Amino acid sequence: MEIKKPELNLQRQAGLKFVKLNERLYNYLSDRRSRGGDAVLDQLRAETIKKFPDYAQMQIGRDQGNFMTMMVAATGAKRPIEIGTFTGYSAICIARGLPANGRLLCLDISKEWTDLGRKYWARAGVAEKIELRLGPAIEALERMPRKPTFDFAFIDAHKPEYDAYYEGVLPRMKPNSLILFDNMLWGGKLGKAGPIRHENGQAINALNHKLAEDPRVESVLLSLGDGIHACRVLPRAK
Ligand SMILES: C[S@@+](CC[C@H](N)C(=O)[O-])C[C@H]1O[C@@H](n2cnc3c(N)ncnc32)[C@H](O)[C@@H]1O
Repeated sequence: MEIKKPELNLQRQAGLKFVKLNERLYNYLSDRRSRGGDAVLDQLRAETIKKFPDYAQMQIGRDQGNFMTMMVAATGAKRPIEIGTFTGYSAICIARGLPANGRLLCLDISKEWTDLGRKYWARAGVAEKIELRLGPAIEALERMPRKPTFDFAFIDAHKPEYDAYYEGVLPRMKPNSLILFDNMLWGGKLGKAGPIRHENGQAINALNHKLAEDPRVESVLLSLGDGIHACRVLPRAK
């Protein structure tokens, strides 16, 4: 039987295998998923855009949200932590992946933004599963016992502080748990020749390099949304 050549419209150069996204494809993939028309998340996104138009783009994407729900459920996480909650979109996605006795800890500095989140956590039926602590995340982490507590982490707050969040959260993560960092492709501006001038880009680029070489974790940088750098915490040597 003749085997037909693949007809995939992928980048052709050897070793390069990806599909360039555009609005049509993004909408297609965002709609082809479980809970594609999620009323609570769609209303939260709409109200966030209305109330905080200058900041609404900080929310994670629809596909990212589903991915996190699935990751939390598939790994059996019960005690996740989120650094950077905004109006609570990603928190709903994480909380939905938890079992009945799971509890998500959210860290954020804004009462105004997270108040909107609280409203939607109640609507989504996950309010009982979420504890919110207001205040700077680095200090909040430092106050926590330095022992393996969390089994999933999502980091999405102040970019220049990402490395400090990482160092703060890592000793508090259980072996084999996942840490996900958002915006790690920094709007597609990384990988160019020459210096990066913006402090956010510098911090993200430095952390991408550090994670890839860090013997404490196994890491993979995914082109999901604005880039998710996923790390598996390796069991510590006894
Ligand atoms: C990109 S938004 C988070 C978006 C959210 N994950 C979502 O999907 O809707 C970043 C958040 O980090 C918070 N933030 C900024 N600096 C912080 C800090 N030092 N400690 C804790 N949270 C901080 C901001 O208040 C903001 O809500």
